[in-house]
Amino acid sequence: MNTIITKLDPENIDTAVIEKAAEIIGMGGLVAFPTETVYGLGADAERADVAEKIYKAKGRPSDNPLIIHIAKAEDAEKYAYTNELYYKLTNAFSPGPLTVILPKKDTVPDTVTGGLDTVAIRIPSNKIARALIERAGVAIAAPSANTSGKPSPTEASHVIEDLSGKADMIIDGGASEIGLESTVVKVDESSILLLRPGAVDVEMLRAVCENVTVSSAILEKLKAGQKAESPGMMYKHYAPDIPVYLVEGDESKVVEFFRQKLENNPKTGILCYIDSRDTVFGENVKYLDRSPIKQANVLFAYLRDYNSSTASEVYSVIPDSDGVGLAVLNRLMRAAGFQIIKV
Ligand code: TXA
Ligand code: MG
Repeated sequence: MNTIITKLDPENIDTAVIEKAAEIIGMGGLVAFPTETVYGLGADAERADVAEKIYKAKGRPSDNPLIIHIAKAEDAEKYAYTNELYYKLTNAFSPGPLTVILPKKDTVPDTVTGGLDTVAIRIPSNKIARALIERAGVAIAAPSANTSGKPSPTEASHVIEDLSGKADMIIDGGASEIGLESTVVKVDESSILLLRPGAVDVEMLRAVCENVTVSSAILEKLKAGQKAESPGMMYKHYAPDIPVYLVEGDESKVVEFFRQKLENNPKTGILCYIDSRDTVFGENVKYLDRSPIKQANVLFAYLRDYNSSTASEVYSVIPDSDGVGLAVLNRLMRAAGFQIIKV
């Protein structure tokens, strides 16, 4: 397949590009587009056949359901049985990095929801994403635009690396603002179950509804035989091609561990705090800010960089889980397959 790759400035959108992209969606094609979280690989959410195409392009198991993207909260009525809490949440956080799971209507094919009777709905804020959804006139089903198991793409170059020849079009709208996927919640009338942490954090959710439960699968490996509340929780994720280990302990001991690793092999991959840059350095040492939002911005690009680096393993600090930090920690834990080294 010949993939059209087009740059588009979100602040000055060339409508001809959106027109072309919407036409591809209308014909049952695949368009990768930027969102404020990560890039998505989009297709018409009402067509059963195109979901299959998405799974194939990503190499993704077809029981892992897709998020459908709409332009405004009321558009969900066509696809799902909404409730008051859905509107409270969308009033507070949409458009933005929040996905809400609701019982689905028949307008959404089973292939899109992986056979589940619920559907995940998100209203992105990115201007290109919004223009595309509006012009397409249907909900756009879009998982992250990466090969299954790889870190989600936060720049068009990541998408091109994974999906050239597999998508009909890739829209390059620059780097993702947030860098981690949306917060995913399942809601009923009076409670919220957090399935995937994101930039809309637990405190923010609690401000809308006090009854928030954090799924145990966010920071713990599913036990053998345990059923995942969200199918995405079952899979190893976000991982570079090399092993990642999280290093737990007093900060000084962790820094000492990194120094020893580097002494043994200067090419070791290390993810440490910027404060240690004078003592921990090397070809494959990368630095995290203390701010979780800044960590979120760079994490996936860093994990991807390790693929093309000379490192054969990566050791990382364990970031604080406050606020957006929970999302950063969740992605790192999954990239590491929950492997923790205590020092
Ligand atoms: O930020 C994002 O959410 C990005 C952008 C493109 O919007 N999309 C994204 O999609 O991350 P994806 O497919 O990579 O992740 C969707 C997650 C998966 O973990 C999936 O299992 C879960 O949402 N999910 C989708 N529908 C669900 C449902 N009906 N019930 C439970 N979990 C669901
Ligand atoms: Mg994904």
